[in-house]
Amino acid sequence: MNGMITVKVNGHPVAAVAGMTLSEIVRGEKPCGGHGRCGKCRVVARGKLSPPSEDEKRLLSEDDLARGVRLACLARALGDCEVEHQSELAETQIVSGGAAMELARRPTFSRYGVAIDIGTTTLAARLYDTKGALLAEAARINPQVECGADVVSRIEVALAGGAERLASLICCALDEMIAELASGAEIEASEIERVVITGNTVMLSLLTQESVEPFSHAPFDARRLFGEEMTAHALSLSHLAPHTPVYLPRCISAFVGADTTCAILATRLCEGEAAMLADIGTNGEMALWHGGTLTVCSTAAGPAFEGVGISCGMRGAVGAIDRVMVVNGTLHTHTIGERAPVGICGSGLCDAVACLLDLEWLDESGYLEDEPVLLSGAVSLTQKDIRMLQLAKSAICAGLSTLASHKGLAVGDLPVLHIAGGFGHYLNMRSAARIGLLPAALAGVARAVGNAALDGAAMLLLDKDSRERAESLAENAETLELSTNATFAELYIEGMGF
Ligand code: FES
Repeated sequence: MNGMITVKVNGHPVAAVAGMTLSEIVRGEKPCGGHGRCGKCRVVARGKLSPPSEDEKRLLSEDDLARGVRLACLARALGDCEVEHQSELAETQIVSGGAAMELARRPTFSRYGVAIDIGTTTLAARLYDTKGALLAEAARINPQVECGADVVSRIEVALAGGAERLASLICCALDEMIAELASGAEIEASEIERVVITGNTVMLSLLTQESVEPFSHAPFDARRLFGEEMTAHALSLSHLAPHTPVYLPRCISAFVGADTTCAILATRLCEGEAAMLADIGTNGEMALWHGGTLTVCSTAAGPAFEGVGISCGMRGAVGAIDRVMVVNGTLHTHTIGERAPVGICGSGLCDAVACLLDLEWLDESGYLEDEPVLLSGAVSLTQKDIRMLQLAKSAICAGLSTLASHKGLAVGDLPVLHIAGGFGHYLNMRSAARIGLLPAALAGVARAVGNAALDGAAMLLLDKDSRERAESLAENAETLELSTNATFAELYIEGMGF
């Protein structure tokens, strides 16, 4: 066919059309949605390519360009060429779960069932038998990252006509994971009788091709909050028998999704006197149980904790600095996989800033004496990075305090704070308190609970009674709006310093 070319991706030939961008060919991540702003979609490419654009010249050093480094979202293949692309799939550390599942009480299936969590960045799935035994696990990067790292960029892509593509990306990935689980446990995928798929409200909307238009403007009212059953056929999960029921748990609001409902269930948040839950990512979702009522809120922390917008930032993958400490007055770092440092992830960033405060290289206002500060190898922190972190940590801390004070509580009154999600798993609580990401009184009672959303989805699969409980909790939860809350605004400004 005219215009067809061959591109070798990591040595394997891939058919492409001349003029395609390298990211369309390698299907890599586009943290800034492919707008040529973040400089993070680096690949090494040789052959017939478009010449480096102005944005590439701005974001890449002369050395990089000489070595053939290109930005995949901008460089186009004009003829046969070769691309080396590091697969994030194999390199990312995915926190799949915390607590072991309890034995099934009243399973919703008679042979096998699957629980899935669609995270904005990662997908995780588990296959269970009727006794609640975990037979297989699967995890991978959410392929929608090629359309942008956060929900906002994906909403933009969907509204610009990409909704079908986003749905097909996620449905194909889930279908492949189901096949992987089945083959891992040596069963037929058609023997899987029920699936529970959780995720935030936008992820479930993109999966079901529900319009995401309401998420793009105030008052941000979700049209559909789920808590409903669909079929495998309707979601194009072709490895399952067509009528296999797929349950999508109920979301609480546009910004507090079914993943939070599931995390509430898994942490048994609403079974004691009082407790708090926080899932810290680009969006911080928080829930408070007190006096028999559940109150939730969410705050846009920005993507700093996922390493986006930070000069040397990356997410928690191999080569990311995840821990920083001071030994004899100097900085020491640890990387995931104990490899040479290539960047810094959220937990490393929090540690690094706590260390800079301890060393008094950074003052209480966030002013950095000498910038950039070299951490290890070529990984450094700039004044701008510190400012980004200040915005993010203050949003989370103010959110937690506002939620407590809304119910007439001081944060110190709470006996436990569950921190869900991958970032929380690696976070050092001392650093979190030192930099003011968590109120000091809460840092002492904080405990990381891993992928509580997936644990909750598994509970919904393995215990018939939990569905009603989860739906009623989500339906009756009170939502505290932070964007118009005076206490939040005040605490947010106050909490910006260290
Ligand atoms: S520069 Fe290519 S995705 Fe951001």
